[in-house]
Amino acid sequence: MTIGGGPRGPAVLVIEPMGNAGRFLVEAAERLGLRLYAATHEDIHDGYPVWLRSALTGVCATDLTDTPKALRDMDVFCRRHSVSGVVACFELFTPLAALLARRVGLPGNDPALAHAARNKIRMGEAFAAAGVPAPRWTVVHDAAEAQRVARSGELGRPLVVKPAEQGGSWGVSVVYTPRELPRAVEAARRYTHAHPHGLELDTRVLLQEYVPGAEYSCDTIVADGVAHPLPVVRKDTTEGRYRIETGHTCPSGLAPPLARKVQDVAARAALAVGVRNGIAHTEVKIPRGTQTPRVIETGARLPGDNLCEVVEAATGVSEAVACLQAVLGREPDTVASRARAAAIRFLLPERGGVLRRVSVPEIPGTHSELHLSPGDTVPEPADSSCRVGHVVAHAETVDQACGLAGRVAARSRVEVG
Ligand SMILES: Nc1ncnc2c1ncn2[C@@H]1O[C@H](COP(=O)(O)OP(=O)(O)OP(=O)(O)O)[C@@H](O)[C@H]1O
Ligand SMILES: [Mg+2]
Repeated sequence: MTIGGGPRGPAVLVIEPMGNAGRFLVEAAERLGLRLYAATHEDIHDGYPVWLRSALTGVCATDLTDTPKALRDMDVFCRRHSVSGVVACFELFTPLAALLARRVGLPGNDPALAHAARNKIRMGEAFAAAGVPAPRWTVVHDAAEAQRVARSGELGRPLVVKPAEQGGSWGVSVVYTPRELPRAVEAARRYTHAHPHGLELDTRVLLQEYVPGAEYSCDTIVADGVAHPLPVVRKDTTEGRYRIETGHTCPSGLAPPLARKVQDVAARAALAVGVRNGIAHTEVKIPRGTQTPRVIETGARLPGDNLCEVVEAATGVSEAVACLQAVLGREPDTVASRARAAAIRFLLPERGGVLRRVSVPEIPGTHSELHLSPGDTVPEPADSSCRVGHVVAHAETVDQACGLAGRVAARSRVEVG
């Protein structure tokens, strides 16, 4: 079924543009003079904000949870609207995008490997096959099996327990004693279907070796199988059982040789999970005292968390523009045009409840956004859904950017009752 339509420029089909990266794709499509189409469910399209609806030339309404039907519908749609590129915004739909690109004959990722960018068990296998340094892991089916692994000490201590398929740190916990394992395994198995499409998830649970040290992310544009590394970003999280992002900073502060190692390992991770035309978002940790980044995960999608804005403010590179260029089979613009800095900090609650009051000071050089309003329910701070808002700072230097964003975050008030 087709809603809307109209001629102008080459066309790209976005498989579900809802989510943080969607607005950056919309902006990038404008800059490149592209027609943007969305593939989504009719009821989800009904809930699109006005800015997204008005940016779309048309919509392929289908059922993204039914792969054969979605492929048939999108194939017909792509041919009817002369679509020249396909991109998935949601990580869970990246294998679908790879299958569609292959079927329509457009630049895309390797469908045989694409599942490894969505499923952390397949990802672990792909990393092992390609020699990408990553934490050791095993699959467990219940808490008793997890406790046997913990007691054996084969993966060390603490352990990370996580769902095979999920994002936003949902269901991820760092477990310090075997006693905590039943709750952690239960939390990791909780998600049987993904919001909002109802896509069925692999409910198997991974136990991973814990990698200590500082965390970074690095995105990679891949064009025709050639990796173009983007800048490294420092990622800060909470400590303890739940690792929720507290912020990101670009540039990362790493010495250039180590930053290049991160870019190299991120590119290898992207290629290992079959990224050939598009972008990958890779997270790594570097154990203190070592120069060896280890890959926590990679996804064949644009980053969330406003990282597109952070990277562009710091370097002038638009990840969304480069990603669209790659999926159209064009040469991507990935060379930095400026050396500034940007930082984002998230406003997190101390506990779950009802948001009573929230205030964020205005400081020049910063802008903030609230994700929740007074009266809204604030989830327990166990994953990224508890974010009340964020502040972004753009500045000349990384110290200035961190100082500005940190000052706004420190002076913000979040009251949960
Ligand atoms: N093996 C590990 N060793 C150390 N820390 C880890 C490990 N696995 C995960 N973490 C921590 O937990 C966070 C979330 O884990 P992971 O990235 O695997 O889950 P996710 O749900 O895909 O996360 P997100 O979408 O928030 O990036 C990581 O960013 C990291 O801080
Ligand atoms: Mg992650």
